Amino acid sequence: MEDVRVALLGCGTVGSQVARLLDEQAADLTARAGAWLHLEGIAVRDINAPRDQAVDRTLLTTDASSLIDGADIVIELMGGIEPARSYILEAFEHGASVVTGNKALLAAHGPELYEAAARADVDLYYEAAVAGAVPVVYGLRESLAGDRITAVLGIVNGTTNYILDEMTTKGLEFDDVLAEAQRLGYAEADPTADVDGLDAAAKCAILASLAFHSRVAMDEVHVEGIRSITSSDIAAATRAGYVIKLIASAKRRENGIEATVGPTLIPNSHPLAGVHGPFNAVVIEAEAADRLMFYGRGAGGAPTASAVLSDVVAAASHIVEGGHAPRELIYADLPVLSLEES
Ligand code: NDP
Ligand code: HSE
Repeated sequence: MEDVRVALLGCGTVGSQVARLLDEQAADLTARAGAWLHLEGIAVRDINAPRDQAVDRTLLTTDASSLIDGADIVIELMGGIEPARSYILEAFEHGASVVTGNKALLAAHGPELYEAAARADVDLYYEAAVAGAVPVVYGLRESLAGDRITAVLGIVNGTTNYILDEMTTKGLEFDDVLAEAQRLGYAEADPTADVDGLDAAAKCAILASLAFHSRVAMDEVHVEGIRSITSSDIAAATRAGYVIKLIASAKRRENGIEATVGPTLIPNSHPLAGVHGPFNAVVIEAEAADRLMFYGRGAGGAPTASAVLSDVVAAASHIVEGGHAPRELIYADLPVLSLEES
């Protein structure tokens, strides 16, 4: 059986769980990929920082470029724009496919990265970038490739859903719940991205681009975060039979795409009202299939690692057996509507 060399960039909340599962589930992953997945090394900033005990510390290095140089698959779980972007481009230049969970990077530089992957005849996989363990990227790229999507909407940020949920069900204060969301590994390194709706906007842009085969940039999504939601807003919503959820929504309109993120009143009877804690739910409406709902853990180390590893298995089996991930099909070029137009 062929050896597929894997380089892991990042060993934080998600990266450490990827390293653990690559080791603990080696036999199953090998059988599914049709190749030995050999973890060559793990790039980090600080080799001496405390880490999950399951991580083999002898694999740690601060020299990401040398790791990339010898890899067939590079898993990028550092986050942020640079140096993640440069390392991914470096991986493509060396003929490696890349698996990433970095929605901020994809939303800002997606087209550049997809084009670089295509030029190098390698693949870019990003299931973990939207809704953690929930296979919504696969759903849009593959399961619904035969249909015409009319809307994608739902809860795509686990941190804000956890915060709003704890404020609603336990009457807790915003700041205390945010600290707990950080401790549990749901929040981004800078939780402003979660709280101000920017993480959800990046995911909304990725989902809209996939659903409508058009380029939707993160800054074209109209965003409002949850910072201004008070416990009295939540109490008023509860009395009226509603919950407040941060909803990302991308809809195909006659004249283009409407893309928004914002706190929304959801009636208690609606399926999205029952999405609690760090769970996410994405509703997809398609002309033939009608309505589908994807639901599961949207944040956290192990659930996100599950999505990363599904991409690693796909990438490895393509390397061994030939074939490619689906290419980005951007052919419709629909405009994104301004607030006045939508
Ligand atoms: P963390 O902040 O927990 O971990 C980041 C890791 O990257 C750390 O190990 C850090 O090293 C390493 N790192 C950062 N910068 C560099 C650098 N310049 N060179 C080498 N190593 C570097 O992030 P998460 O694991 O939470 O997130 C990783 C990615 O996954 C992000 O893109 C995030 O958006 C995405 N994601 C996260 C989810 C979650 O629930 N946490 C869910 C879905 C996606 P060191 O440990 O030495 O500091
Ligand atoms: N910070 C993100 C969230 C992680 O809370 O949803 C998952 O993308």
